[in-house]
Amino acid sequence: TEHPVAPGLAQALELMTDAGVARPAREAFARHYRDLEEGVTGIVRESTIAPLQDPPLLADVNVDPEAQDEALARTAVVRLNGGLGTSMGLSAPKSLLPVRGELTFLDLAVRQVLALRERTGARLPLIFLDSFSTRRDTLAHLERYPELAVDDLPVEVLQSQEPKLREDDLTPVSWPADPRLEWCPPGHGDLYPALFTAGLVDRLLDSGFDQLLVANIDNVGAVPDGRVAGWFAQTGAGYAAEVCPRTPMDRKGGHLARRRSDGRLVLRDTAQTAEEEMHLFTDETRHPWVHCNNLWFRLDRLRDLLAEHGGSLPLPVIRNRKTVDPTDSGSTPVVQVESAMGGAVELVDDAVALGVTRERFLPVKTTNELMLLRSDVYELTDDLRLDAVRTPAPVVTLAKEHYGHLGDFDARLPSGMPSLREARSLTVEGDWTFGRDVTVRGDVTLGPEGGSVEDGAVLDGTT
Ligand code: UTP
Repeated sequence: TEHPVAPGLAQALELMTDAGVARPAREAFARHYRDLEEGVTGIVRESTIAPLQDPPLLADVNVDPEAQDEALARTAVVRLNGGLGTSMGLSAPKSLLPVRGELTFLDLAVRQVLALRERTGARLPLIFLDSFSTRRDTLAHLERYPELAVDDLPVEVLQSQEPKLREDDLTPVSWPADPRLEWCPPGHGDLYPALFTAGLVDRLLDSGFDQLLVANIDNVGAVPDGRVAGWFAQTGAGYAAEVCPRTPMDRKGGHLARRRSDGRLVLRDTAQTAEEEMHLFTDETRHPWVHCNNLWFRLDRLRDLLAEHGGSLPLPVIRNRKTVDPTDSGSTPVVQVESAMGGAVELVDDAVALGVTRERFLPVKTTNELMLLRSDVYELTDDLRLDAVRTPAPVVTLAKEHYGHLGDFDARLPSGMPSLREARSLTVEGDWTFGRDVTVRGDVTLGPEGGSVEDGAVLDGTT
């Protein structure tokens, strides 16, 4: 290209080449690096978009059972498994965190697919997108499921890695204390270079699959459902994104909107929202649908899109500010250059959204959601889905300083979760340790003073 290469970029690209990162991922990184240098922020202004209105609803969709099974038989699944869940203080793959009893996110994702295969006869390949920091532990855990692999398709695709950049001069950070912390995965927008480099789309097409569901591993609701698969097959669209009515617990999630200039669907994430417009972003009456990151691709269209861009799609850049050691806020400030896979929505001219209900969107971003999913608000079904016993689920808000990290959370809940079936909200402001068999009813707040909640206590906040 004509751009002079900035020293920071040149160093970063050299490190990536030495680490074996393939060309498409390097190109994506270089594009985003230049965006940053030129001050491109990826910010989507409220005035440039119109809220997503009235998407078709899964509840109104009519697909007969045979068509559902037929669509599932041609569907493959990828689960995004590159993240560590650093915001919950984890340094092992988030997917290995127990969610129900001993069962982890990974176990649930695998067993949901195995149950569906058994019920419908679909082959349903399940492939994990791993990163350098999740691969080893994930593959070790998957040894429990020798039946998972389909034909000669892989059970894993490895995403790339990139240097974290010093915030002050955008050069690769150096951290001799733990050189592994000098690297990060580039966000799940790296799906595209990873698929392209692995040649996976062609392999799936050759094996007779024609559509692909991609979803976060930490969304327990992202089951390859026959109704959605059948609906997507019927639309003939190249791309679909599931959206779900927002509740106060998912104000942070991204949303789709129509770009006013060309009428295309676009994705706006927290990181793409201007500080002074955050109140509009989080306003669930204005943007009532949250983006679930459950994406459906028509595989031949995805193949063409990847080929058109040499594997590196022009996705909006996300500038993720962290410290080089995420557990030490005093360590060197860094920028992680990332992108989101859902940003591809604007590249597909016939992209559509589908309104789904809560059972397809059960993300765990914080210990608030973990408490809910581990509680009696949900029941594990025979096909390994989590079924809400009551809706809407109660709103759990735990003091971040005492419960935000998983270790602290577990220490304060040594005998399991309180019963939340009859709760509307639980707010814990101080440092409280819960005894066994605690029941919460109505709206309960435990104050900043902290203390212990005794065994068998009934916290009754009904009015
Ligand atoms: P998030 O962006 O929510 O990240 O990922 P995370 O890892 O859960 O959270 P923090 O910020 O470290 O706490 C959403 C999904 O995308 C995957 C994650 O594994 C998760 O399933 N992901 C994220 C990747 O596969 N690769 C990435 O580079 C980033």
